[in-house]
Amino acid sequence: MDDGDHGTTVRAWLRGIEVFAGPLPEFDPERAPADPTRLFVSWLAEAVRDGLRDPHAMTLSTVDEAGDPDARVLILKGVDARGWQFAGHGFSPKGRQLAVHARAALTFYWPEHGRQIRLRGAVAPGSAEDNAADFLSRSTTARAESLIGRQSQYLADTVERDQALEKSLALIEGEPALVDSAWTLYTLAPTEVEFWQAAKSRVHTRLRYERTEHGWERFRLWS
Ligand SMILES: Cc1cc2nc3c(=O)[nH]c(=O)nc-3n(C[C@H](O)[C@H](O)[C@H](O)COP(=O)(O)O)c2cc1C
Repeated sequence: MDDGDHGTTVRAWLRGIEVFAGPLPEFDPERAPADPTRLFVSWLAEAVRDGLRDPHAMTLSTVDEAGDPDARVLILKGVDARGWQFAGHGFSPKGRQLAVHARAALTFYWPEHGRQIRLRGAVAPGSAEDNAADFLSRSTTARAESLIGRQSQYLADTVERDQALEKSLALIEGEPALVDSAWTLYTLAPTEVEFWQAAKSRVHTRLRYERTEHGWERFRLWS
């Protein structure tokens, strides 16, 4: 890129990037299972089977007290009949946002498969037992960072950070079962789950599951 008209250069450069290069898998919504959890797990399994990078990374979108949206990437911790699980610090911005407005969206994107999955629903914190089990499954450094409890605050001094980390690591060494009570395993129970499959023809396929009082209903969507 030159230093001149960045806007024009960037636009031309972006237009030249191929999307949905494929080869893309087939998706027949007529044969989709009645439960979106099963379809999600099968798409995730295909992503893992084909060696896609970080297939369990997803975007968590929340809103803050003022109603302003926020989003960040997290790791999917589990999927079961209750919903989709992710974990984070209760005093982080996302934790505080979820405490005020316990609803969120999750978005997965698997570029090599041209697949996107979107979920929306209520979010509930885990039991103290589940939160502790998830905390203890994390790496020592991740636990030490969590115990410092300053995620997303301004970092003015990396020496201060390194000293705090050292202190926190020493604390864990002395008490390996130490749990940060603010660490939370959240579950998003979706009311909507949408599966989006790209096609080379650009006639993409969309299938949305909506939870009703009778169970899940399925709807095709225009792309
Ligand atoms: C691939 C990837 C995985 C991540 N996994 C997590 C996670 O599981 N939990 C978490 O709290 N942060 C995770 N992060 C960091 C978050 O994106 C974010 O920076 C952090 O949680 C602070 O967000 P907040 O300020 O909105 O609370 C991950 C980041 C990336 C890029």
